[in-house]
Amino acid sequence: MPSFLQMNDCLSTRNGHLYIEECDTVELVKQFGSPLFVFSENQIRENVQRFQRAFQNGWPDGPVKVLPAAKANWIPAIQRILASEGCGCDVYSEGELTIALEAEFEPSLISVNGVPKDEAHIYRCVDAGVRITIDSLEEVPIIERAATELNKVAHVRLRLKPALPGFTRHSDFVGEGLVPTDVAALVYKGGLTFDQVMEVAPRLLRTKNVELVGFHQHHGRHSRMLEYWEEQMRQFAREIGRVCRALDGYQPREIDIGGGFPIPRDPFNAATDYSEPLQLAALQGISNLLKVFGKGVRYRVLASLIDLFETHPNQTPAYSIEEYAEVCTRTLRQELLRHGVSLDGVMLQLEPGRSIHGNAGIHLTTVKSIKRMTHPIRWTYVIVDTTEFWFTGGRYEHHLHEYVFANKVDHPLVGKADIIGRSCYGDRILPIVPIPDVEVGDILAILDAGAYQEVSMSHFNAIPRPASVLVHGRQAELIRRRESEQDVFRRDVIPERLQRIRNRVPSEEKR
Ligand SMILES: Cc1ncc(COP(=O)(O)O)c(C=O)c1O
Repeated sequence: MPSFLQMNDCLSTRNGHLYIEECDTVELVKQFGSPLFVFSENQIRENVQRFQRAFQNGWPDGPVKVLPAAKANWIPAIQRILASEGCGCDVYSEGELTIALEAEFEPSLISVNGVPKDEAHIYRCVDAGVRITIDSLEEVPIIERAATELNKVAHVRLRLKPALPGFTRHSDFVGEGLVPTDVAALVYKGGLTFDQVMEVAPRLLRTKNVELVGFHQHHGRHSRMLEYWEEQMRQFAREIGRVCRALDGYQPREIDIGGGFPIPRDPFNAATDYSEPLQLAALQGISNLLKVFGKGVRYRVLASLIDLFETHPNQTPAYSIEEYAEVCTRTLRQELLRHGVSLDGVMLQLEPGRSIHGNAGIHLTTVKSIKRMTHPIRWTYVIVDTTEFWFTGGRYEHHLHEYVFANKVDHPLVGKADIIGRSCYGDRILPIVPIPDVEVGDILAILDAGAYQEVSMSHFNAIPRPASVLVHGRQAELIRRRESEQDVFRRDVIPERLQRIRNRVPSEEKR
């Protein structure tokens, strides 16, 4: 089995090609064009079912519900797959709420998070009967007013912000590996402190048309380590206990632990792999020292040094879903009981995003040009027809994706190159990575591209965005069409006065 493949992977290699489910990726590009996002229906279903089984195994006290975060991949066809699995949906924006309601998720399993929430959004939430996860004090009077005016009961949860003093290892997510996780989690805007909770919770319990159903937390993927999850559950349970005691023994019916579980291959590794920043710092220092020897010597030495540089995607996989589930449920149960919170009938909810969608999606892109520089330093550029602006979700989080040349999966790696995108930026999608005997027309597959990537694409350089395809066994269907130039310019408005360029110099006069 090639090293990039994992157990339960929707990917496989056959006859030298990369397959996703039963579809040859090279044929998918022929059929749907390049570049292309491809999603595996079976992988999404399998990921959801594993979360559901694993957490339910550890939570005998009540139901478990998986509410995948829509932000990670809100393509409507994908949301329908999740709804058909009996999932709920974690929603952030008005648009995501529209998608969730149209996909027909059970409203009581739609968790509307986020801050700020506009007044119209809150009214719509109350009207639709979804869960509102309160994340600012300003929301409370609006919720109360909406419930009264619409004559409905608003079901709310409070998003808590427990500190994590027991996990001080650096965050992978914030500050290039230089910020302790507990500080990074505190600085993030989400959640209410104990004092803020106590400003509104007693009033919520008294308000006739509002029902406080439970508590929520989300810290995100700061670390893949199990200790991080243990500390989150310990502190969440402690904070729930503190709030319940302060509310004279209030007992929650729903407890939502949020998301942040890693993708199995865990492409989130640039911040934990310091080789590139260290290499660059060394380069700068040596370059300064070499200036006195003149440019010939300087370039010769730098070229030899640069020849040593190489980057590799992360080779340390995340823990399994079952291991995260075990540590979360064990710690949460134990600590809630210790703090006097009854577990009887309590629904446990979780909101994984990246770990549901990440390994279910790949991005296929075609090699358009290969440039080799031999002097004064040696560098190879493999230029592909995609761009890092279609990987903005991952770039922002310092992902370095695993990759494979889809039509050359069994070719040995014989060189190294920068895989460069088509925008006018540096666009180093994969910097200094090992490559096989690459030729124009080869197809590169960037793995684990199912979460946060397609939904974060931008229009930089006015390039129309690529299509998305869903595979299911041998079937491949378009679920988001490729954009045209008209799509790119659709929102543009030219004011009347700029429609004729008045001061254009007639070509006769110019001469
Ligand atoms: C409230 C909430 N829940 C769940 C998620 C999903 O996180 P992830 O994709 O890291 O699992 C997010 C992501 O930001 C979030 O804000």
